[in-house]
Amino acid sequence: MSQITKDDVIKALSTVDDPDLKRDLVTLNMVKGIIIDGTKIIAEVELTTPACPLKDVIKNNCIAAIKRDIPEATIVEINLTASVSGKSKNDIMPGVKNTIAVASGKGGVGKSTVAANLAIALAREGAKVGIIDADIYGPSMPLMFGLNHKNGLQQDPETKKLAPLESYGIKLISIGFMIDDENPVIWRGPMASGALKQFMTDVNWGELDYLIYDLPPGTGDIQLTLVQTIPLTGAVIVTTPQEMSLIDAKKGLKMFERVNVPVFGIIENMSYFIAPDTGNKYDIFGTGGGEKLANELDSKLLGCIPIDPRIREGGDAGKPIVEALPDSVK
Ligand SMILES: Nc1ncnc2c1ncn2[C@@H]1O[C@H](COP(=O)(O)OP(=O)(O)OP(=O)(O)O)[C@@H](O)[C@H]1O
Ligand SMILES: [Mg+2]
Repeated sequence: MSQITKDDVIKALSTVDDPDLKRDLVTLNMVKGIIIDGTKIIAEVELTTPACPLKDVIKNNCIAAIKRDIPEATIVEINLTASVSGKSKNDIMPGVKNTIAVASGKGGVGKSTVAANLAIALAREGAKVGIIDADIYGPSMPLMFGLNHKNGLQQDPETKKLAPLESYGIKLISIGFMIDDENPVIWRGPMASGALKQFMTDVNWGELDYLIYDLPPGTGDIQLTLVQTIPLTGAVIVTTPQEMSLIDAKKGLKMFERVNVPVFGIIENMSYFIAPDTGNKYDIFGTGGGEKLANELDSKLLGCIPIDPRIREGGDAGKPIVEALPDSVK
């Protein structure tokens, strides 16, 4: 029996395509290491994000290809690692690789809920994640992550930068960590924009794969400040299926397009309700709105989230549903 060589393994892996990028793993330089110990093969495949939804498919395809092309292999192991590629190179936060705004035109559609759960989902996959609560007048992150001004933000005596607070492995900054939540913020627009800017310039974010911005509703000062301060990797638009919300979502999406921020797509929240006792489905806010909007604007419908009291309870209790019930939202 001839010895298995690295070339044999590379040849086998060059038949496996990344389903998204439609090129093979070797050409894409994703095969980072191969160890051969007799008839045991261990290969390291580096993904572009630990949150790759197709990682199991890639892993299984690699194992199948090696077993098919190298039948003498007795044990085949694929170790998936990830190195997040950054598209948001900026001097203000040099360690932050990607910046994502969660936005909508309309209030109360679930931006903060989506931002919090998206962050937790990414962190659970192994990514380094932070959230900037850009809603200066109505911050939601303190409640959603069970943190407030009493947790005491710390300032580095040398750099004078603030250390973000941490919850469920996510770094967070919010105006609600600086003032008590009984008192409203009564500031003029420029002060609110100034606060958002400082959340970027005066906070020690360190190394992050994804920094998520939970935006207030609308297309005002805060949104403009954000797009003018740093290059955003992209934006996600949240809407509910009803017409009122769709009109505002369209405005939100167009604003990002106008300033050349790519829109990843639309998330339709509160899409339907399944009655727990009967299992009947109710389209409380109408149906198909998100898909219609995505088609009309040549965007993508990224997903639909049902109305589920557990989503609200999780947000109110400081434990978003992806943390509290990770298997409920797949
Ligand atoms: N899919 C859902 N099922 C049940 N409750 C939800 C769902 N999505 C959001 N909620 C609840 O609806 C309320 C509004 O959601 P959220 O605060 O995320 O909206 P928002 O768009 O950030 O609002 P604002 O414009 O005020 O910032 C919250 O109480 C939240 O828990
Ligand atoms: Mg909000």
